[in-house]
Amino acid sequence: MAFFYEEPSKTFSEYLLIPGFSDGNCVPEKVDLSTPLVKYKKGEEAALRMNIPMVSAIMQSVSGDKLAIALAKEGGVSFIYGSQSIESEAAMVAKVKAYKAGFVPSDANLRPDNTLGDLLKLKAACGHSTMAVTEDGTLNGKMVGLVTSRDYRVSRMDKATKVSEFMTPIEKLVTVPEGTSLHDCNDVLWEHKLNALPVIDKEGKLKYFVFRKDYESHKDNPLELLDDDKRYIVGAGINTRDYEERIPALLAAGADVLCIDSSEGFTQWQKNVLAWVREKYGDTVKIGAGNVVDGEGFRFLADCGADFIKVGIGGGSICITRETKGIGRGQATAVIEVAKARDEYYKETGVYVPICSDGGIVHDYHMTLALAMGADFLMLGRYFSRFDESPTAKLLVNGNYVKEYWGEGSNRARNWQRYDLGGEATLKFEEGVDSYVPYAGSLSDGVRMTLAKIRSTICNVGALSIPELQDKAKLTPVSATSIVEGGAHDVILKDSTPNINR
Ligand code: IMP
Repeated sequence: MAFFYEEPSKTFSEYLLIPGFSDGNCVPEKVDLSTPLVKYKKGEEAALRMNIPMVSAIMQSVSGDKLAIALAKEGGVSFIYGSQSIESEAAMVAKVKAYKAGFVPSDANLRPDNTLGDLLKLKAACGHSTMAVTEDGTLNGKMVGLVTSRDYRVSRMDKATKVSEFMTPIEKLVTVPEGTSLHDCNDVLWEHKLNALPVIDKEGKLKYFVFRKDYESHKDNPLELLDDDKRYIVGAGINTRDYEERIPALLAAGADVLCIDSSEGFTQWQKNVLAWVREKYGDTVKIGAGNVVDGEGFRFLADCGADFIKVGIGGGSICITRETKGIGRGQATAVIEVAKARDEYYKETGVYVPICSDGGIVHDYHMTLALAMGADFLMLGRYFSRFDESPTAKLLVNGNYVKEYWGEGSNRARNWQRYDLGGEATLKFEEGVDSYVPYAGSLSDGVRMTLAKIRSTICNVGALSIPELQDKAKLTPVSATSIVEGGAHDVILKDSTPNINR
């Protein structure tokens, strides 16, 4: 006979935290949100840690190279989506690793024979006012000059004027040779009161710009996540079909950590992938697996050698798995149970396998609840898809800016491997939808606001770190009516009220 759970499974919205005593030390600036990304043995440090407990979902509409760089700057990790060719995924990983904090490849370039009209079109398309002039108009061409908005006056000049007539020629520019340290570049910027400094190689070709404005932002990213060579840390998604070709390509491109991207991870297919990785690379390659929703699934993947385990089936905002197939579990219950299994596993084996709560985070406070319930970090799709840096289009729909966001199991993504149960199945059905999400500005602004709320709540609990939060948190289930009490109620709302639950 089938097994029946006595209690219904619950979502984050069905819980609240009860405050604990906060002493004078409990101030948000002192809260440490760092967390392990991969497993470690008792008494040792995890080989990879993050400075904030956030990773971005392995999705076409979320994790491209731009978002990966922006998130690493804030201290988290992106997993570049695997539902693309091996070559293009590896190229995205390589782009993140090639990005040198502070050294920016020129993305607005002109030839000397381009006209002011061409320049204005380019400016409208890319939004930059500083443009390199290279012999062939490419980003790494031989540099012949520079144009900024101070070099031309649109109202007085003929649009047919050639760029060569008003650019600042290379002889008059301050430049530095390739290999100059960022520190020295910044000194040159300040000494010469420049806004942009071209870095030039031995053949006179443009390599990068160093911008004055980035100096501030670099100083402003104290939590950025870098490897030993000061490159941003990046992850990559893989599937259980072409891993023997995909993994070597991703590692060659510089991926720091991998994750099997699958809607359901309690399978022979994941075991095969993990066994292959351990056989070929031992423990040098870090790889997460999932998703599971109970202790049994966790133990299976932990025994198979997963470096972290993702939790969650059917809770994603674009997910229709529960409606399509009738499998899944309320995300809060899943996290609570798997966290229990992780702690038991740690006690038994001395190996701590971090767990990631994946999907179903709607409000910022859900993140704090997930951490309090035992998650080591969170995977977020909808949340990151709203920012400038996600790979999708920003559109104006009914007077509001939105971004597109679609599930990996939607017809649009066609990531059927994610739902693959082996065999030669030819009948495919959708487990995800295509949608819009409200546009939310820059990742940095959004993440910092969210983290401010998380830090504040952690202080309310009387804690200063994620493990301490997990130790001290007191969580109460809430009734349906008390959820209503939690929002603004019995008042006539003004239009300017923050749109939290409506
Ligand atoms: P969100 O943060 O609630 O938007 O959930 C994102 C998570 O949903 C991802 O990390 C995946 O685990 C999951 N997911 C992505 N695409 C699909 C889909 O098409 N169907 C079901 N789940 C999906």
